[in-house]
Amino acid sequence: MHKSSDLYFVSSNNHKYQEAKTILDSFGIKLRFIKLNLEEIQSNSLKEIAVSKARDAFSKCKKPLIIEDDGIFINFLHGFPGPYSSYIFKTIGNNGILNLLKQNRKAKFVSIITYCDKNILQSFDAKIDGSISKHVKGKGWGYDPIFIPNNSKKTFAELNNKNELSHRYKALKKFSNWYLHK
Ligand code: IMP
Repeated sequence: MHKSSDLYFVSSNNHKYQEAKTILDSFGIKLRFIKLNLEEIQSNSLKEIAVSKARDAFSKCKKPLIIEDDGIFINFLHGFPGPYSSYIFKTIGNNGILNLLKQNRKAKFVSIITYCDKNILQSFDAKIDGSISKHVKGKGWGYDPIFIPNNSKKTFAELNNKNELSHRYKALKKFSNWYLHK
């Protein structure tokens, strides 16, 4: 049974919406899409960015919504690009990252989901540990072709069950547990 009230995902990224929709569907929550570029503040904290994006989205849409902010954190680069992941992807991309890394390839993906409605602002975070592949492998979006989750030999782009284990899945699971009981 789907929860009846409307919930919107506000983002400019179709891939994220498709994944979030599939994941929330499995928890019985119907998700609609508002495609919008949101203002992104400069901050070292994904949560601060997510909260500010959620406020901006609510002021524009006036509907119960979630937004997501993510980052990939690479150990060898002391956590970089983290909150700057989007900019780094657009500039040096996956091949640029592969060229920077030497032996230590450990990394993690972090997702923050922020829910915003009139008087409620609530964030949920999750991470997945893994490593950066030596080569670009598979045809997924963003960093999927270079991120290998722990206990796997395949990148996110090569796996067919990314949506059952990703940072996004874990954060949305926390959100669902809260949302379905609020
Ligand atoms: P943002 O949350 O839209 O700022 O995303 C940060 C960067 O990480 C962007 O370049 C996204 O494409 C990338 N990204 C976020 N989540 C994923 C994912 O699940 N797979 C691959 N790339 C991702």
